[in-house]
Amino acid sequence: MAIKIYRIEAGDFNLMRKYIVGDLRCHPAKNKRRLIYEWAKREFLNMSRVSEFGFCPEPVAFQKNVLVMGLVTYEDGPAPKLKDAVIEDAGCCFNKVVECIRCMYSKGLVHGDLSEYNILVSDEDKPVLIDFSMGALVEDPIAQELLHRDIRNVTKYFRKFGVDANENDVLGAVTGG
Ligand SMILES: Nc1ncnc2c1ncn2[C@@H]1O[C@H](COP(=O)(O)OP(=O)(O)OP(=O)(O)O)[C@@H](O)[C@H]1O
Ligand SMILES: [Mg+2]
Repeated sequence: MAIKIYRIEAGDFNLMRKYIVGDLRCHPAKNKRRLIYEWAKREFLNMSRVSEFGFCPEPVAFQKNVLVMGLVTYEDGPAPKLKDAVIEDAGCCFNKVVECIRCMYSKGLVHGDLSEYNILVSDEDKPVLIDFSMGALVEDPIAQELLHRDIRNVTKYFRKFGVDANENDVLGAVTGG
């Protein structure tokens, strides 16, 4: 298992409120502690929404500012972040990440904080997405902006490794437009 503890004092509350205010599943609490609890709940709800696909840690439980989830592993230890991982076939890994974004979108969710820091690489170069508390439902007014940013981050990263990663192509593949 992995246990994530949200530090009550460390959050940027104005930013958190900005991102949570359009989410009808959560209460944009004025109290800092309550807002952190909502943030943890939101990460759990977002992971639960897409956990059937198997590209995120298994959500186990949350209470207050603590979230318990499955540990993502590589060989016998915790999986590295994409930014630190040695990938055999960058093009193949990129396609898998795009498929994750597409599946999430089909379930009405945008990750919202996707980058090489929030993608772990498990065995056989399998990308596993983490850190879902920014995740927004597609009907949230902020969702399209977040989707564009996610796609920009991911395409920019993979282009460094020679992958022909085009933002508009990915956007079309994800939204079907
Ligand atoms: N389920 C998991 N399995 C394995 N490692 C994990 C898991 N969840 C998180 N980690 C590790 O912990 C780090 C921090 O997790 P996360 O990205 O969810 O939090 P964060 O708020 O971005 O923290 P930080 O600001 O310290 O990066 C990740 O970069 C990853 O290395
Ligand atoms: Mg993170």
